[in-house]
Amino acid sequence: MRSLIDIKDLSVEELYDLIDIANDIVDHPKQYAEACKGKKLATLFFEPSTRTRLSFEAAMLELGGSVIGFSEATSSSASKGESMADTAKVISCYADIMAIRHPKEGAPFVASQNATVPVINAGDGGHCHPTQTLTDLLTIYREKGRLDKMTVGFCGDLKYGRTVHSLIAALSRYHDIEIVLISPEELKLPSYVIYETLNKNNMKYRQVTDLDAAMPELDVLYMTRIQRERFADPNEYERLKDSYILTPEKLDNAKRDLAILHPLPRVNEISVKVDNDPRACYFRQALNGKYIRMALILMLLREAEKDRSVMKPEGDFLINTVICKNPSCITSCEQELDQVFKWTEKENGICRCLFCESKQIVNERKI
Ligand code: CP
Repeated sequence: MRSLIDIKDLSVEELYDLIDIANDIVDHPKQYAEACKGKKLATLFFEPSTRTRLSFEAAMLELGGSVIGFSEATSSSASKGESMADTAKVISCYADIMAIRHPKEGAPFVASQNATVPVINAGDGGHCHPTQTLTDLLTIYREKGRLDKMTVGFCGDLKYGRTVHSLIAALSRYHDIEIVLISPEELKLPSYVIYETLNKNNMKYRQVTDLDAAMPELDVLYMTRIQRERFADPNEYERLKDSYILTPEKLDNAKRDLAILHPLPRVNEISVKVDNDPRACYFRQALNGKYIRMALILMLLREAEKDRSVMKPEGDFLINTVICKNPSCITSCEQELDQVFKWTEKENGICRCLFCESKQIVNERKI
């Protein structure tokens, strides 16, 4: 039985399969209207959401299934101290599949190791948001007709934007992709994404601050919100919040077939005057989110019917030897969990937390 925790859990072939199914659903919705009859989706949202939760729910309803769940942590027994593992075991008694959004990184992974039904990560802190990446890939494919041979600009908050990090990781698997990273100095892409994703995959990229200068070469422009909630200093947010505001005038130099994406919600980084431009894809992107989630629910439920065993992580692990220092990791609040680190570059002493993927360098001789 398979869950979806990270976009890397899906092969390139599986990504194309999901895109094919989603496109078929768009063309023949009636053929899927009873595909999940009798099945239940549980949406466990410990954090706010509009698009992800409601598109999951709409997806299951349009497949003929039904939906149970909650939309805030205070209305679940997590507020009484129930662990993620127990929650997952209990929800498995009531639903055939579950989607979880949680502020703690690694929480959906913990659920997937304890549930007896497939678990979908609907966003865990700043870590992963794989169904947004699926939505972005479907949108690029539907707008451009391909997922390779293009220049993709990412603009705004590239430091904290988990959707940016995941989409860059996904695009690293396709050919002839050039990345232009457009951000203020303070919100540049973290060095670990540059090292782990761009450099390791020999991707062409450059970092710039000027959106206007980069605009003419872009095939896709992925705009992002400057995330107020991530700033420790409100004055720093005030200083940076209006760094990039996309207006119709700024699109004068853009390609005629540019695709403008945004995971939404937006604040003011795209003027509403851009919304009527045919190149503005972000509301079509939100609709695509429903179709790709329908495809994903179908795929995971079909696989679960064939194999109910939980997929266990493979590798060389350190158990209760290294403590995760990431305060957003699920291990920081659930003391019952073992501290598990996976060796990723043993020769350099580098291991990563199994839950949140935080890197630590350890001296093997000291452990
Ligand atoms: N894009 C996205 O994840 O939106 P929500 O937070 O509204 O789900």
